[in-house]
Amino acid sequence: MLTCIGLRKDYVTERGAVAAVAGIDLEVAAGRFAAIIGRSGSGKSSLMAMIGGLSRPSAGQVTVDGTDIWGLSENDLAAFRNRRIGYVFQFASLLPTLRLVDNVALPALLGRSRDGTDAYGRAAELLAQMGLGDHLDAYPSEVSAGEQRRAVIARALINDPAMILADEPTSDLDEQTEIEIMDELLAVNRERGTTLVLVTHNLALAEQAEQIVHIAGGGIVA
Ligand SMILES: Nc1ncnc2c1ncn2[C@@H]1O[C@H](COP(=O)(O)OP(=O)(O)OP(=O)(O)O)[C@@H](O)[C@H]1O
Ligand SMILES: [Mg+2]
Repeated sequence: MLTCIGLRKDYVTERGAVAAVAGIDLEVAAGRFAAIIGRSGSGKSSLMAMIGGLSRPSAGQVTVDGTDIWGLSENDLAAFRNRRIGYVFQFASLLPTLRLVDNVALPALLGRSRDGTDAYGRAAELLAQMGLGDHLDAYPSEVSAGEQRRAVIARALINDPAMILADEPTSDLDEQTEIEIMDELLAVNRERGTTLVLVTHNLALAEQAEQIVHIAGGGIVA
């Protein structure tokens, strides 16, 4: 279960303060697929960054499965992100000097959730599931954008997260590839019961969600 209470993000710039997220209360039940929609600049990515433990809220609380994530120490928050949250962002780039299999294994090695052999075994398995079984040793620049995104999904899954956060994960891909990548994410949601929070501009896609959260001007539109 994901809960946001009175969540705010104010950016202070030379032109003054911007209330990017202006008091959001939100609940997403465990295992659900929730879509976040709204115009450009409405605050979706700012909200996702706070939910994902990547950007500290100006005010309010984010609770993931009972843990007040912004109440954790830096180290505990880093461990929480590593173990519990999978990120699939549009520009969630793979490290260019590592092979796909290294990129996917890395979060398990860093989090010490698996030993080396196990991490590499699981990474190979996940890449194969994503249709990249023949590309384990390829470098990111040697595969297509859609294939890179599949590898990012495999990387997001290596530590069996409770929740996947996807911020416009497919907006730069062609329509058919978008459908294929979304099918992978939806399969993870359905088959593993991993909560999926997806930001999308694709309304047809959002309509497949169990919950639609419409954001405008940093708030939720009723
Ligand atoms: N680091 C930052 N510093 C200052 N202002 C920011 C920063 N990041 C975002 N903003 C501002 O906060 C508001 C919300 O931005 P955000 O990126 O959350 O929107 P978004 O809904 O994700 O838009 P898009 O659909 O274009 O990705 C915008 O007005 C934006 O200009
Ligand atoms: Mg955004």
